[in-house]
Amino acid sequence: MDQKMNASARYDVCVFDLDGTLTQSGIGIGRSVRYALEKMGRPTPDEDVLRRYIGPPLLESFMQIDGMDEPDARRAVEIYRERYNTVGWRENAVYPGIGTLLRALKARGVFVAVATGKPTGVASDILAGFGLDLYVDKLVGPHPDDHHADKAALIAEALPEGAVHPCMIGDRGGDVEGARALGIDGIGVLYGYGGRSELEAAGATCLAEDVSALSGLLLGDDPVNRGLFISFEGTDGSGKSTQLKKASEMLTAWGYDVTLTREPGGCPISERIREIILDVGSAGMTAECETLLYAASRAQHVAQVIRPALERGAIVLCDRFVDSSMAYQAYGRRMGEDVIARINEPATGGLEPDLTLFYDMSPEAAMSRRRSASVPDRMERENEDFVLRVYDGFQRVVRENPRRVRRVDASGTVEEVFDQTRELLRSALAVGKTKKL
Ligand code: TYD
Repeated sequence: MDQKMNASARYDVCVFDLDGTLTQSGIGIGRSVRYALEKMGRPTPDEDVLRRYIGPPLLESFMQIDGMDEPDARRAVEIYRERYNTVGWRENAVYPGIGTLLRALKARGVFVAVATGKPTGVASDILAGFGLDLYVDKLVGPHPDDHHADKAALIAEALPEGAVHPCMIGDRGGDVEGARALGIDGIGVLYGYGGRSELEAAGATCLAEDVSALSGLLLGDDPVNRGLFISFEGTDGSGKSTQLKKASEMLTAWGYDVTLTREPGGCPISERIREIILDVGSAGMTAECETLLYAASRAQHVAQVIRPALERGAIVLCDRFVDSSMAYQAYGRRMGEDVIARINEPATGGLEPDLTLFYDMSPEAAMSRRRSASVPDRMERENEDFVLRVYDGFQRVVRENPRRVRRVDASGTVEEVFDQTRELLRSALAVGKTKKL
């Protein structure tokens, strides 16, 4: 057993409650309770009453809040689960900042567990559905027939052998009471469904107003982890911009701070440079001028948007980066790789994406997609030979950077392509395995 605590982490084990602490489950739970009550022919309660169902064991809630007898309450729980286990859990969202926090805890070697009153089947669907499974070492929930799950017992089960300084984080009095019963710190979060007086009455060690305050408590004064820089590349018409938008929506719902940006552009000065580059009125622009303008726009964008976002711990999703200059200017314009590398050095200051997704679609297919799309800009007016050289340029970029650049087959439907995008993003987010306690 390693007795020495990770120097930069306050706790070596964090046990989280799920509903109201990691995920906002109010909508899904509320609608599923209403569904069960309607099916049982009971009056539909208003929102305030529905809120009281979030957190405590459902069987008890149906008995105490609605006044059912035990057999009716059992039936209500069954009906509730019909809806919650299929559609209700998908109505959840991760609280903003939780993805970033869990990733930072894992990166510091903290053991992360979840102790929930929800059956483990649906709880693990929720963790996987929102990408939290990447960071959770252990999930503990009640036995399927146990409707009176004791939180202290769940927390005790979640604690790994050899835990030195564990804590429990939850939004309800029961979470904190469970922690106190075991003699460990119970941190109450005020953004969930419990509230200050409930958590104080339960004996919370401390309270966190929001996710950022919670991060401060769990990570100490450590600077946040540097974020992740992910670029999306492909020929015009490869569908990468659609994937980028979906990726941004998904990662936001997973609780990350996401910066969605593009090149050329991404900030006011660079957007103005973009207009000059892409304007059909700029016909006659030399390859050198074009290359330098792309690099100039990049220099401002890196300094003003990308670096500050990474320092804040955000995930930066960027539509094109230096690889586009390699494909379009080094190969398309025949400027050569060395010139492009040299010109871009001061623009990026050596910054490279952590991951680049190359949306691979045959030039023929991409061109026919493009023809049916919007009015072509100056770059899109280039002839077929140029398009083929750009495509070959991208193939070289992929070959020359096997660790950073991943190929995505862009020929399928939006959903098929997004399945690949999601998996690649998941592997970029994953952090090393927790040290064994
Ligand atoms: P944009 O409309 O953003 O392209 P798309 O929507 O197809 O991704 O326009 C950017 C154009 O600029 C695109 O044709 C590729 C080109 N480009 C370069 O030639 N070099 C570069 O370094 C970058 C970033 C883009």
